[in-house]
Amino acid sequence: LLLLLLLTLLSEKVSQMMEWASKRAVIRLNGEKFRRLIRAPPRNYSVVIMFTALQSQRQCAVCKQADEEYQILANSWRYSSAFTNRIFFAMVDFDEGSDVFQMLNMNSAPTFINFPAKGKPKPADTYELQVRGFAAEQLARWVADRTDVHIRVIRPPNYAGPLMLGLLLAFIGSLAYLRRNNLEFLFNKNVWAFSALCFVLIMTSGQMWNHIRGPPYAHKNPNTGQVSYIHGSSQAQFVAETHIVLLFNAAVTLGIVLLHEAATSDLDLGKRKIMCVAGIGLVLLFFSWLLSIFRAKYHGYPYR
Ligand SMILES: *[C@@H]1O[C@H](CO)[C@@H](O)[C@H](O)[C@H]1NC(C)=O
Repeated sequence: LLLLLLLTLLSEKVSQMMEWASKRAVIRLNGEKFRRLIRAPPRNYSVVIMFTALQSQRQCAVCKQADEEYQILANSWRYSSAFTNRIFFAMVDFDEGSDVFQMLNMNSAPTFINFPAKGKPKPADTYELQVRGFAAEQLARWVADRTDVHIRVIRPPNYAGPLMLGLLLAFIGSLAYLRRNNLEFLFNKNVWAFSALCFVLIMTSGQMWNHIRGPPYAHKNPNTGQVSYIHGSSQAQFVAETHIVLLFNAAVTLGIVLLHEAATSDLDLGKRKIMCVAGIGLVLLFFSWLLSIFRAKYHGYPYR
């Protein structure tokens, strides 16, 4: 009778896990679900659990990055033809299951632990995040080591790059087509100067750094609600900051171009005077503004 009871309980648990897994690749557990489906025997399935803190007030940037990779891994498994009820992927968020964190004596997030189908987790069932990083491929290798389930990681394709390139090519193509009888603009040095300037402004304002490091757009202080657009240290930057720097550089450049035009163009004197004053104003204002941003980031820099 006891055996029968255990078997019924087990199949109930398996079908419960399967039902959740059919809804989302990573099952969300709270304390109660964790105790019932993971902690308590009987169990014939492995569960990999990410212990994390995704609420924004926890300010765990690594948790978000690790979560993205974990979702990729779990989805690769969930939609693979090899999907079985041998292993499930789950997560416990600190704000939904702090009792689980306490029970396991866990004080850092994110942490990945494999709860094997038989017995308690061994030391190797805790993923060495510091050593191996949180790339989905590395996690998959560890899962294969611990559970013998081999998962081929399939990343969702990133269309943003090709899309932008396509748009740019389409734009250039249609421009050339519209002006097919008059391709002189290709020999216009202002067109080339303007394109080169755009490229330089993009490259000098730190867009490449953003692309590689993926910083947040700005930072909102959770206590005061104040939003800062400039990162207070020279070691980092926000996306908004690079846009500001780009605009300021563009304004200084415009000022210099106006000054140059004022000196060399053959417009009447009044217009050239206006250009001259506007140019000086732009350069003075935006260059000193740039300096004060620089000063705010490099503490101890003497000028402003
Ligand atoms: C675990 O047990 C349940 C119930 O007996 C069964 O349906 C399921 O296939 C088993 N899972 C594995 C991986 O053997």
